[in-house]
Amino acid sequence: MNLKDLYINYFVSIGHKQIPSAPVVPENDPSVLFNTAGMQPLVPYLMGETHPYGARLCDYQKCIRTNDLDEIGDTTHHTFFEMLGNWSLGDYFKDESILYSFNFLTKVLNIPLEKLAVTVFAGNNDIPFDSESYNKWLSLGLKKERIAKTSDDNFWIAGDVGPCGSDTEIFYFRSNEEIPEVFDPDDDRWVEIWNNVFMEFYKDKDGKISNLSKKNVDTGMGVERVTAILEGVNDNYLSSIWIDVIKLIEEISGKKYNGNEKSMRIIADHLRTAVFISSDEAGIKPSNTDQGYILRRLIRRVIRHAKKLEIDPNSDFDIKIASLIIDKYKDYYKEIAKNKEVVFEVLKNEKTKFNKTLEKGLKEFSKITKNNKNINGDVAFHLYDTYGFPIELTTELAGELEIEVDIEGFNRKFREHQELSRSASSGKFKGGLASTGDMEIKYHTATHLLNAALKVVVGPDVHQMGSNITSERMRFDFSCDHKLSDEEKKKVEELVNKWIEADLIVEKCEMNKEEAINSGAECMFIEKYPDIVTVYKIGDVSKELCGGPHVKNTKVLGKFKIKKEESSSSGVRRIKAVLL
Ligand code: ALA
Repeated sequence: MNLKDLYINYFVSIGHKQIPSAPVVPENDPSVLFNTAGMQPLVPYLMGETHPYGARLCDYQKCIRTNDLDEIGDTTHHTFFEMLGNWSLGDYFKDESILYSFNFLTKVLNIPLEKLAVTVFAGNNDIPFDSESYNKWLSLGLKKERIAKTSDDNFWIAGDVGPCGSDTEIFYFRSNEEIPEVFDPDDDRWVEIWNNVFMEFYKDKDGKISNLSKKNVDTGMGVERVTAILEGVNDNYLSSIWIDVIKLIEEISGKKYNGNEKSMRIIADHLRTAVFISSDEAGIKPSNTDQGYILRRLIRRVIRHAKKLEIDPNSDFDIKIASLIIDKYKDYYKEIAKNKEVVFEVLKNEKTKFNKTLEKGLKEFSKITKNNKNINGDVAFHLYDTYGFPIELTTELAGELEIEVDIEGFNRKFREHQELSRSASSGKFKGGLASTGDMEIKYHTATHLLNAALKVVVGPDVHQMGSNITSERMRFDFSCDHKLSDEEKKKVEELVNKWIEADLIVEKCEMNKEEAINSGAECMFIEKYPDIVTVYKIGDVSKELCGGPHVKNTKVLGKFKIKKEESSSSGVRRIKAVLL
């Protein structure tokens, strides 16, 4: 049995409900481009909302971190990875959390205790030393020399704002050398395998810490790293997760992994991430902004490294590798098999586009670097703008010639040119959690009005299938078997605007599930909800099960305008709309 199955089976056996992985593109959280940790989709519940599956949860979550593409190519970093997690939402706390981790590692995975060490929170001005975790580890037989106390590394938060708390991190001695008596977290041979965060605080944007309504546990364990450890390999790409992908790249290129590690790892890593982004239900396509731009950069880097390995970039090498990746994951993520053709289309189209300019761009690059010892921001931007060279492609090529690139200068030009929104240019690329802004809240309320208007105009069988909000627009997917006519669109728009004008009151109430459903409240998956639910009512036009937040009165929404209506997938239509 593989690690994912062992993990889920174990936590289910001790009363946890398995929740499905959320999409890689967060729903209703415009502050981040991708989910970067298992807890991210759970933030509302860590903040106190009741989770429909209960207070003990576990999952494997698709995560993407693209902060530092330069690190990809080494043995342990990946842009996409799977994170195993178990959560207590106000249920158990430190004692059981540590016990469960200990039991899973030593009894299910059979890792010898002497290969393990931990860090615990040493305390700071705000929060005292975590003696409870320290004593728990001792009671489980860990020697005190193997328990290190640190402050900076033992406090965890996603980004700058949000639920947070002290943590205890578990390390494994990944070496055949003799294990030192005393654990030193800075010794590279000890690698972190699991992080148990005790989320009892909330940090606001001024850095102020307050108590959450419940004491929660949030844990995270990286599938790639632990699989490699269990299989006794020091290079993740030699583990069962990657080895057949690497072998296929060897076969296609006619070259050995040994001596070509970096390019082969980049191709394997980036293609896997491209598969997961483009198969996501959010329908991301390569573009020059946000998630689309990350996807573009990944695919272009794959093409350039394929060329380095003398693979014909016009061949279908990428499709072959992507097919193998899809086969490896399709039993765990349904969307990946379902959207297989979409993935292939994305790869093909982007490759065709890039291949057109790549040769010319490489010639231009040689010309530029013949006479220059560095590449300024304007030149890097010229390579991007005219030849489609993402910045890391330019820096990578320059690095091979030991030439410096003014990345800051490029970023300035890029921002000027793109006029990227504040969130896209800073916060979003960092992958932190920011608070929901006023515009997002307005769009959230407008989503409810749109849902209600569609039911009136198109018919009562229309149901929400998905939604995605940024500060600039809303996107709403709904079940419907036909393209909306111009007249239908106009009617929907008019109705939403009529309701906005009427300045309807938005009311929040708690009621029992049955009562809510009998009263006709709209919801996506009723069986997922707990007995007591939160319902948002807007005048008497809309009633939906929802966690909020929402505006208080509809008038503040301004004017609602549909920008586009298109197909999302079979039987599902998508509306993009704005508030003016
Ligand atoms: N959220 C914690 C992490 O990502 C578990 O490390």
